[in-house]
Amino acid sequence: MLFVTFASTNENKNREVEKILSSHGISVDFVWTSPVEIQSESLEEIAREKAKSAFAQIGKPVIVEDDGLFVDALKGFPGQYSSHAFKTIGNAGIIKLLVGSADRNASFRSLIAFYDGKHLSISEGRVDGKISDNVTEGGWGYDPIFVPSGTSLTFAQLKEKKNEYSHRKKALDDFARLYSKE
Ligand code: IMP
Repeated sequence: MLFVTFASTNENKNREVEKILSSHGISVDFVWTSPVEIQSESLEEIAREKAKSAFAQIGKPVIVEDDGLFVDALKGFPGQYSSHAFKTIGNAGIIKLLVGSADRNASFRSLIAFYDGKHLSISEGRVDGKISDNVTEGGWGYDPIFVPSGTSLTFAQLKEKKNEYSHRKKALDDFARLYSKE
């Protein structure tokens, strides 16, 4: 059995990460810490610096995750500002910004950064989809408004089936492949 530490304060992410990595035979040890999140245009740079900060805090090999929802009609907003946008305008605010827009295309990206003090690796997962017309019930974060391609249901409505489509699943599958090879 392989082990890895995940630094996060998001219980929803923890639950999903645990399920996905255990399917690859990787056991996850969670550390409730908030690594420094720099302001940057690049999700990669944010994830890289976050992994280094987490390693400095806990002193052992660690993964961190950084995500973004990118809405085409909003020129990629909220993107790297997804967390702030969620806390301020929320799902209803994103839907409001799209009123009258025929283009509802969007993508969700997840970056998993691993750092062990020497080597840093980044695994990316991306899912294309659309922003729904209404805020649906359940889920967390942007789950109630993101409809991945290949279904007409939002992440929230997909419930456990979310992982068949999710950005996080794709990024973690890639991470698990790299990590298992080491
Ligand atoms: P961060 O990586 O925690 O900064 O994520 C950015 C924003 O995207 C936060 O508001 C999260 O709640 C949201 N988010 C990240 N992943 C998901 C997801 O799988 N579903 C819904 N919202 C998500």
